[in-house]
Amino acid sequence: MNGPLVLAIESSCDETGIALVEGGRRIHANVVASQVALHAATGGIVPEVAARAHLRWIVPVLEAAWEDAGVAWSEVDAVAVTHGPGLAGSLLVGLNFAKAVAYVRGKPLVPVNHLDGHVEAAWLLDPGEDDHPEPVFPLVALVVSGGHTFLAEMRDHGDYRLLGETVDDAAGEAFDKVGRMLGLGYPGGPAIMQAASGATHRSVAFPRAWLGDSYDFSFSGLKTAARRIIDAARAEAGLPGDEPGGLLPEAVVAELAWGFQDAVIDVLARKTARAARAIGARSIVVGGGVAANRVLAGRLADEAAALGLPLHVPRPGLCTDNGAMIGAAGCRRFVAGARAGLDLDARPNLPLAAR
Ligand code: KG4
Ligand code: ZN
Repeated sequence: MNGPLVLAIESSCDETGIALVEGGRRIHANVVASQVALHAATGGIVPEVAARAHLRWIVPVLEAAWEDAGVAWSEVDAVAVTHGPGLAGSLLVGLNFAKAVAYVRGKPLVPVNHLDGHVEAAWLLDPGEDDHPEPVFPLVALVVSGGHTFLAEMRDHGDYRLLGETVDDAAGEAFDKVGRMLGLGYPGGPAIMQAASGATHRSVAFPRAWLGDSYDFSFSGLKTAARRIIDAARAEAGLPGDEPGGLLPEAVVAELAWGFQDAVIDVLARKTARAARAIGARSIVVGGGVAANRVLAGRLADEAAALGLPLHVPRPGLCTDNGAMIGAAGCRRFVAGARAGLDLDARPNLPLAAR
C-alpha cells in the first residue's frame, strides 16, 4: 500500500485510542484503552472521570501502539488528532498530547472531525487482512453512536452534505437509557442486543417517529414510551415502579428489549434506504458504536440488497471509538492539505457538514 503513514490519537469520549494507519486504509497498530468498566459503576460517563482516565492511559497506549507497529519515527508523515466533537476535558487530553508529539518529532498536525472518522472506518483493513472493495461514491453514510445520529451524502473523502440528524437523543443514548430502565447496566447497547436475542414472541410494539418524509430522527418519544411500557410490565409482574425494587423476569426483559431494538432499527434502516435511493447512491456506509449491532447490520444488508447496493459495516471494534478511524480520516485530510497550528483548540460541538 502507498500513501502517508499517520499516527492518530482519539480521546473525544471514553476510549483512549492510538493507531498507525497507512494510506487511509491499512492498520499497522490500533490500541484502545476502554473506560467502560470505569463508567459502569456510575451507570454513565462522568466527564471529569473520563478526562482523568485519558491522562492516565494515553502514554501506555502510545507505547503499546508503537511496539505493535514496529515503525521508525522517520517513517511517520503526520500526527492526526480528534479536535471535536466530544467532551471538552477528554478532547483536551488527546489534543495536547498530539501537539507535544508533533512538536517534539517535528511532524505536521492534522485536525480530524470524530464523525468523519466514524465514516472513514469503512475503508480500514486490519493488519494482514486481504484487500476488499472500497465504498464507491456517491454514497450514503449513516452514523449511529452514543453522541450522534445522522445521515449524510458523501461525494468524495471529506465532501459531506448533511441529509438529516437526530432532533433529540442519539440512537446509542436511547439504547443506554432503556438498558438502564431494563436493569441491564451500562452500556445498554450490547446488553439490549444480547437480551433481545432471547425473545421468542416478538410482539411488543414500540412507537416509531417518522417525522414526515425528512431524514431527521427522534428517539426521545421512544424513550418515554419505553418507560410507560416497562412500568406496565412491572405492574403486571407485581413489582414496584422504581428500578431497584426488583427485576423483571428474563423472558419479559427479552421481549421488551426486542421491541425497543426493533423500533430503532426499523427507523434507521428505512430512512437510510430512502436516502440512498433519493441521492442515487452507489454504496451505503455505516459507522458508530450502534453499528456494532448485528441485527441492525442484518436489516441494513437486506435493504441494501433490495437496492442492489454494497453495504460497508466495519467490524464491531472499528464501529466503537478507536484511533484507527481517526488515522483513516487523518490520512485523507493530510493528502488534502489540512494542517493545524500548535494553537489548535478543542471544538466540543464541531459539526461535520451543513445541509
Ligand atoms: O461510537 P461510540 O463508541 O461512542 C460515541 O462516539 O458515542 O458509541 C457508543 C454507543 C453506546 O451508546 C453503546 O450503547 C452503543 O454505541 N453500542 C451499541 C452496541 N454496541 C455499542 N448499541 C447497540 N447495539 C450494540 N451492539
Ligand atoms: Zn464515536
